[in-house]
Amino acid sequence: MDITLNIDETTCIRCGHCAAVCPSQIFTQAGPREAVGTRNIQTCIACGHCVAACPTASVIHSAFPETTVHSVDRNAMPAPEQVMLLIKARRSNRAFAREPVPREKLEQIVEAAHRAPTASNMQQVSFTVVTDPEKLRQITLITLDIFGGVLRKLENPLLKPLLRRMLPGVYHYLPVFRRLIDEQAKGNDLILRGATAVLFIHTPSASRFGHADANLAYENGSLMAESLGISQFYTGFICSAIEQDHRNRFKELLGIEGKIQAGMALGIPAFRFPNYIDKKPAEATWL
Ligand SMILES: Cc1cc2nc3c(=O)[nH]c(=O)nc-3n(C[C@H](O)[C@H](O)[C@H](O)COP(=O)(O)O)c2cc1C
Repeated sequence: MDITLNIDETTCIRCGHCAAVCPSQIFTQAGPREAVGTRNIQTCIACGHCVAACPTASVIHSAFPETTVHSVDRNAMPAPEQVMLLIKARRSNRAFAREPVPREKLEQIVEAAHRAPTASNMQQVSFTVVTDPEKLRQITLITLDIFGGVLRKLENPLLKPLLRRMLPGVYHYLPVFRRLIDEQAKGNDLILRGATAVLFIHTPSASRFGHADANLAYENGSLMAESLGISQFYTGFICSAIEQDHRNRFKELLGIEGKIQAGMALGIPAFRFPNYIDKKPAEATWL
């Protein structure tokens, strides 16, 4: 879509904020309080910073009609200590109640995730929310079936000496895979842990920063979930199985085009954690 971008000179106060924030240097201003112009509009990434930064609604941008622009009430913002408390209280909770997560809460989690930054503002991150119990069951079963196949390969006496040298790290997971499969046989799903929803975060396969984009979205979503009283954990096992899904079984089950970059298991917590604990001290270098 071709972008049109104009300055309303009758209301522009020439503050230069649009020029200061534009990542593509589209706005020109010869000096303070000089008239603002535009150039190379075709390089606009439609991030909307110019519109958001303008105090007088003088940037007329075709991608951001009036209905898409909202004033920020800074007094309604959570205080830094509230944000920090949310970050500290967020845990990967795997003890879920049976009742499903209300749809509107899932929608808020998706909206928060969708609000995360994306490289070059590409906004190519998509979401698939699975709540169908049978599909959730299949996700676990396919994951474990793939792990079973990997296990058989890694334990193959002919391949083992070679693979152990090539993939030493993978052998560390053998007992883990075995435990996951054994527990499933006893009726314990250690893949989804009774989560009643999974949010898959995916991008086109060729997306250069797809993994980063999706995982930034994840963290926005997980903090939103915590604030809504919904528990989550990162579905690393499932993502790892998806990587090795050469028969495209996940694709067939979920109908997701492109690459699944992250997954969030979600559920109503069976109980809330009354405490947060300290993590290792941050290893931060100050230069
Ligand atoms: C990339 C990644 C993969 C993960 N995979 C799983 C998983 O498959 N199953 C699970 O129960 N937790 C998984 N987790 C959660 C971690 O175990 C958890 O984040 C870690 O133990 C720290 O706990 P916290 O999130 O409560 O701070 C994963 C976390 C990350 C970041």
